[in-house]
Amino acid sequence: MVTVRAPATSANLGSGFDVFGLALERPGDVIRVERAPKTTIEVTGVGRQYIPEDPVKNTAGIVAKELDAPAHIEIDKGVRPSSGLGSSAASAAAAAVALNELYDCGLTPTELVRIAAEGEAAVSGEAHADNVAPAILGGFTIVTEDDITQVDASIPVVACLPELVISTRDARQVVPKSVGIDELVGTVGNAATLTAGMVRNDPELVGQGLRDNSLTGARESLIDGFDSVRESALSAGATGVAVSGAGPSVLAVCHDGKQGSVASAMLDAFFDAGVEARAYQTSVGGGATILR
Ligand code: HSE
Repeated sequence: MVTVRAPATSANLGSGFDVFGLALERPGDVIRVERAPKTTIEVTGVGRQYIPEDPVKNTAGIVAKELDAPAHIEIDKGVRPSSGLGSSAASAAAAAVALNELYDCGLTPTELVRIAAEGEAAVSGEAHADNVAPAILGGFTIVTEDDITQVDASIPVVACLPELVISTRDARQVVPKSVGIDELVGTVGNAATLTAGMVRNDPELVGQGLRDNSLTGARESLIDGFDSVRESALSAGATGVAVSGAGPSVLAVCHDGKQGSVASAMLDAFFDAGVEARAYQTSVGGGATILR
């Protein structure tokens, strides 16, 4: 039997649509796998009622098939589905790492990212490795067609999750299909600034680089209260704010020791907008870990 924990993740980070991803220290999913003649799945934890236990519809089940590694898989969800915090990626990543260990498949972490992305694709319709890459590798990741680059970073963040549901499909529909040269230049500048900030562990640069006026910015209107949540977070000391993944979670970056005040400000702003929310005071963390 092998048990693995994989973290929640935040994709895009404003200026890195479908490219950037970040592992969060918490929350996370825990998966336990045991060899079995055929794959069966049991789900407990947050939002379990929304997750199919049929292996052909479950991200971990697809991973077991891809690895030719049948198992009884217990999934304890810590990451709420449809949260914008990489819920299915956390399960896919944990399953890939656990089954690789259980069956001694010998795949590298980068190969496991591709397998986990297939698991994600089967349930979400599109293969985005921008959540599974940080869920497996940890830290800050840059995913392109050909490569995955990983940077260990230590940046304090707050992930604020409102009680709203936005489908990734709807969130992708509001993203413009083309952008002008001025927006493109601005986005490249912000993405480069953010990357430098991650390398230097500088929350100011990361916060500046979260700005995005062209692609992910279009999603802000899908989140009730977003403008006031952002203003409140910035007033409380956040260095930058962006929609996390497809939303509805909102990610704020700040200096160490500021997570408490930033989280309270964001929760109050959501409350004033009539939206219940919870906040994770956390930081950039490691990837999937074998617990035993
Ligand atoms: N990059 C993806 C998006 C992440 O924002 O749509 C969610 O799957």
